[in-house]
Amino acid sequence: MAKVTKIYICSNCGTRYSKWLGKCSNCGEWNTIEEQIINKTDVKSNNLLTISPKLIQEINYDNFERISLPSDELNRILGGGLTRGSIILLAGEPGIGKTTLLMQELMKIKDFTVLYVSGEESLGQLKYRSERLGRPNSQFYLFHELSLPIIIQAIEEVVPDFVVIDSIQSISDPNLSGFTGSLQQIRECTSRLQEIAKVKNIPIFIIGHITKEGYIAGPKALEHIVDTVMHFEGDKNYGYRVLRVIKNRFGPAPELAIFEMTQDGLKEINNISEYLLETYKPDTPGSSIAVLMEGNRPILVEVQALVSYSPYGTPQRSSIGYDPHRLGMILAVLEKRLDLRVNNRDIFVNVTGGLRIYDPAIDSAVVAAILSSFNDKTLPHLLALSAEIGLNGELRSVSQLQKRIQEASKLGFKQLITANIKEKSFKNESFNSSINLKFINNISELAQVLFF
Ligand code: TYD
Ligand code: MG
Repeated sequence: MAKVTKIYICSNCGTRYSKWLGKCSNCGEWNTIEEQIINKTDVKSNNLLTISPKLIQEINYDNFERISLPSDELNRILGGGLTRGSIILLAGEPGIGKTTLLMQELMKIKDFTVLYVSGEESLGQLKYRSERLGRPNSQFYLFHELSLPIIIQAIEEVVPDFVVIDSIQSISDPNLSGFTGSLQQIRECTSRLQEIAKVKNIPIFIIGHITKEGYIAGPKALEHIVDTVMHFEGDKNYGYRVLRVIKNRFGPAPELAIFEMTQDGLKEINNISEYLLETYKPDTPGSSIAVLMEGNRPILVEVQALVSYSPYGTPQRSSIGYDPHRLGMILAVLEKRLDLRVNNRDIFVNVTGGLRIYDPAIDSAVVAAILSSFNDKTLPHLLALSAEIGLNGELRSVSQLQKRIQEASKLGFKQLITANIKEKSFKNESFNSSINLKFINNISELAQVLFF
């Protein structure tokens, strides 16, 4: 017999509770906790339970079949194209370019049938924007519909090679309880689409809106259901958009690709570092270059710092693109290890280009930029840095050092500062590079090398 239980889930972050609360204790949002009814099937009475566990050696699998998309960058970050039968969540803030990205990719793909379901825009609106993206090569069907059963019927009729649901928050199944966009509807509709993707062996894209805090509005929980999660982000003031793969059952994660939003849709950018360093002016106090890894790809970014006297009692600390908590930690380390008095200074740190950085190897470049601004002295000519900084002021080694060195060298940098590593594990001569490597132990040594 099926047993009915109630649970309560925060529609903002997906945290589960056994009773209703006014405020989610995880994300701090008010009135986001919703009741959800779960049917627990009694295992004993479940006649379907006939499949027994299998030994791993006895299991065979077919190689996952991939479809190549028109964008090489998109194929690369997906781990070599799109896997048939997979379900991909594309999440991002409204207006970032999710609809544009999927429409242009799937309109360009030759000899395929696409069903694009939009619950948000009318057919006229979609047709109007498609004209900026060029003529379709695929059989591109547009469908304005909000009801999941009717969408499923359309999938049966059209027999598409790709389906896009734009967006998951705008569709619902009238047979389920909960209003459109509620957590229960979003989860159930996604699970249903997941089944269809597997049974029909077609990829299904689901577009999801996220809130400013970065939650996929409603379900953080969706991330567990889908095979691949991609975030589309970027600063609206800049023309480019960052597409990050943050989960992928069929390829590596994290991975990153950059696109530029133009008059005629999104254009992929292959030479990311050159693009990010376009406005970089060497020999400016307060500016440094970090060599980072984003997934398997090395990138160079400029870090700027401004250290100025604080006119008020409490000095300001602000950072864009760099974790503000890490900035606090770095400042404490500088104060303790270098005796750097910053308690009467405002400090601003900015990763130029609006990119959000997660690789801790940026720490050393942040320290260099802060010291450079504090001393009002430029850093050595064409110098780049790549090392994490620990609480004791030690420089910590980074992964994939060779790739980083090659990228810095390719872009014409002459010196690279990184953490001291065991001689044996690394030979500078083992690859051709014109860059001068400096292995540094701690931030006292770093300050010496930078300014003396
Ligand atoms: P859109 O794809 O609608 O964003 P989302 O689906 O994430 O809400 O794109 C939003 C912006 O992109 C919109 O402000 C218009 C702009 N845009 C261009 O700059 N060039 C183009 O070719 C297209 C189609 C859109
Ligand atoms: Mg849209």
